[in-house]
Amino acid sequence: MGPQAGGGTVMSTPLVKLTGVSKYYGNIRALRDVSLEVSAGEITCVLGDNGAGKSTLIKIIAGLHRHDAGTFEIEGEETVLANPRAALDRGIATVYQDLAVVPLMPVWRNFFLGSEPTRGRGPFRRLDVAHMRETTRAELLRMGIDLRDVDQPIGTLSGGERQCVAIARAVHFGAKVLVLDEPTAALGVKQSGVVLKYVAAARDAGLGVVLITHNPHHAHLVGDRFVLLKRGAMAGSHTRDSITLDELTRQMAGGSELDELSHELERVAESGPDTPSGSTPATASDRDDTTR
Ligand SMILES: Nc1ncnc2c1ncn2[C@@H]1O[C@H](COP(=O)(O)OP(=O)(O)OP(=O)(O)O)[C@@H](O)[C@H]1O
Ligand SMILES: [Mg+2]
Repeated sequence: MGPQAGGGTVMSTPLVKLTGVSKYYGNIRALRDVSLEVSAGEITCVLGDNGAGKSTLIKIIAGLHRHDAGTFEIEGEETVLANPRAALDRGIATVYQDLAVVPLMPVWRNFFLGSEPTRGRGPFRRLDVAHMRETTRAELLRMGIDLRDVDQPIGTLSGGERQCVAIARAVHFGAKVLVLDEPTAALGVKQSGVVLKYVAAARDAGLGVVLITHNPHHAHLVGDRFVLLKRGAMAGSHTRDSITLDELTRQMAGGSELDELSHELERVAESGPDTPSGSTPATASDRDDTTR
């Protein structure tokens, strides 16, 4: 592998390494011979079209599904995760696209969901609300997220802000690996930028990040490694210094398929004015009007 874009001297064992992994759903082979690695302080992007197998791949890393062939190593040790809890225990936190949040509960409550600290003992044991509020505020601030009010229901936050809270949460609870399934898919340009900034912040905090995306621009902005999936198989694996954004975009779109599409679109554009042949004068003058 070449030198890392992050400038770090990352030569240690990868946090997560998949080698030749395959996965079947009944007779359907969703993944065929896929390899990928993620190291501390690095972002590995998984790119591919709908149905390429991206979610299947992260479900294996997240402990939701088991691979049928190949090896899955965590910090150099071959592993088969029994369930998502086992993945969490090994430091792998996954943020799914449909974030598992309770919309009406305050931000701090969601931040601690399932890991609430308590104070007192026996019958006096209760949730340490003040601590949760303060910690949530502090942790979000540490990531550079300045929420007006951690008491507001999380449902009132934008999609991007919710993704950021989920990322801050994983960092706070000590995740080593952060897996994100299309965190920017439903977001506009500006919010995508904000989320990518926190993805980079998690990387800078030393986590290894697996970022699933359709978007080669988003991938190229933050990625150190790129794995391209096509119909369940690897269509390419690159480090940042070995591929340009243009080439990544081209490969994502399937290279020659993109050229073909662009020719087809040109043909449509060229033949456009001829199509309504009977009403050519009217449409022509309409067009003249609108362009003035
Ligand atoms: N539980 C399942 N049972 C059967 N087939 C499945 C199951 N989950 C996924 N598949 C199939 O496996 C293939 C890969 O699906 P996967 O969800 O991993 O793709 P993806 O890359 O995440 O797509 P998208 O971009 O649409 O989210 C698809 O052909 C899909 O229909
Ligand atoms: Mg998916």
